[in-house]
Amino acid sequence: MVKTRTCIFISGKGSNLNNLIKKSRDYNFPININLVISNNPKAEGIKHAKKNSIPIFIVNTKKRNFENKILKILKEKRINFICLAGFMKIISRNFLLNFKKKIINVHPSLLPKFKGLNTFSRIIKNKEKKTGCTVHYVNEKLDSGNIIIQKFFYIKKNDNEKILKSKTQYLEYRAFPEAIIKVFRKN
Ligand code: GRF
Repeated sequence: MVKTRTCIFISGKGSNLNNLIKKSRDYNFPININLVISNNPKAEGIKHAKKNSIPIFIVNTKKRNFENKILKILKEKRINFICLAGFMKIISRNFLLNFKKKIINVHPSLLPKFKGLNTFSRIIKNKEKKTGCTVHYVNEKLDSGNIIIQKFFYIKKNDNEKILKSKTQYLEYRAFPEAIIKVFRKN
């Protein structure tokens, strides 16, 4: 099958990136990862790209024209789809117009609950009964685009932030690939 040329944006650990790299090796998986962009030169996730010989582009998101730099390299690499996997920077409306309905993100809560940062501490404080992850399209508003997939689990009495994070990430490793398959099935 012809796979869509995809870029993954990261800022940190990159465990979702690593998982998507593995999935992308399946013959029937709709995307191939042809570029990784990180706004953190020390991001642990860069090692997964290196190990798999995927080109890496480090961008300084503190500079005003950073999005133009990203758009240029995406064009050079003929990228048609973007997955945000722990990318800690909000993307502008202008950038989104270049990739309409082609940017998705994974968020560690059951959106629309707990948008933004520090999700796990807020979930505990709020005494939620269940939580999980959401894969959604990216629009101009933070963590607000149309939902593609959600997965959840019931919170146990002893679940602290660390446990919630690891349970949530475990679900993300299934939800992100499933969401990608769903997106491409629709097209
Ligand atoms: C994920 O848990 C995701 O929900 C959030 O950032 C985290 C990234 O983790 N947006 P990793 O870098 O993929 O390990």
